Amino acid sequence: METALSITECCFENQLTRSDLMIALGGGIVGDICGFASSIYLRGIDFIQIPTTLLSAIDSSVGGKTGVNCSYGKNLIGAFHQPVKVICDPDTFNTLPCDIYTAGICEALKYGVICDKKLFDSIANKSCDIEGLIHRCLEIKAKIVEKDEFDHGERQLLNFGHTLAHSIEALSNFEISHGHAVGLGMLLMARACESKGLCEKGVSTSINDALVSYSVINESRFTEKDLALTALNDKKRKGDSITLVIPEYIGKCSLHKIKINELENFITAG
Ligand code: GLY
Repeated sequence: METALSITECCFENQLTRSDLMIALGGGIVGDICGFASSIYLRGIDFIQIPTTLLSAIDSSVGGKTGVNCSYGKNLIGAFHQPVKVICDPDTFNTLPCDIYTAGICEALKYGVICDKKLFDSIANKSCDIEGLIHRCLEIKAKIVEKDEFDHGERQLLNFGHTLAHSIEALSNFEISHGHAVGLGMLLMARACESKGLCEKGVSTSINDALVSYSVINESRFTEKDLALTALNDKKRKGDSITLVIPEYIGKCSLHKIKINELENFITAG
């Protein structure tokens, strides 16, 4: 929040008006903060996203979710504010450190699990080209966001793995990055759903194998109790309920509402 306010201070100092715009050049945090600052400055001015990480290119730069963290959790203060343009140069992603690149791969696997097995397989067996991957992920996201911009229904599918991911990030003091936490969150959710017969057998193994092939963390060091307690502040909670994303099989997910006090039991596999 302090960073967002300091951006607005800078805009006042430089007398930006409503005909000016901000440009977010960076990864997801830069895009989220700049997007949020532009949504509150003079009650909202335009902004452009230029994502420099794979994760921000395929997810956070598109769709208009902006926000900042606070002591209660991740991205809890924010606004829906669409960028007027997103400019993406795929060559940039060849220059990323390996773990930043694989964080994006985890988010790309998410799109595969929610609605495209072919995409999932091509990422898992490393046969996808980067432009094709970005194009397909954004095609999926655009289709979903066009139908449900404000996250009341179908857009929640894009949150597959995210409830546990936000807990994992917070419990690790943000040492585990968002993308890697999403990878692990998807795996834990798939294991839990498989053990409850809500998902086809083998889904968790497919996710696990894909994570292992990119050397992404596939073991949780947190208890189900801590993960569930930390999820109490999840944005997706509505009253005493929370909507989880269930992977029925690779290529299809569905929404499943439970009571928040059932979460610990739900995510306990076996
Ligand atoms: N990152 C999930 C969404 O934009 O809805």
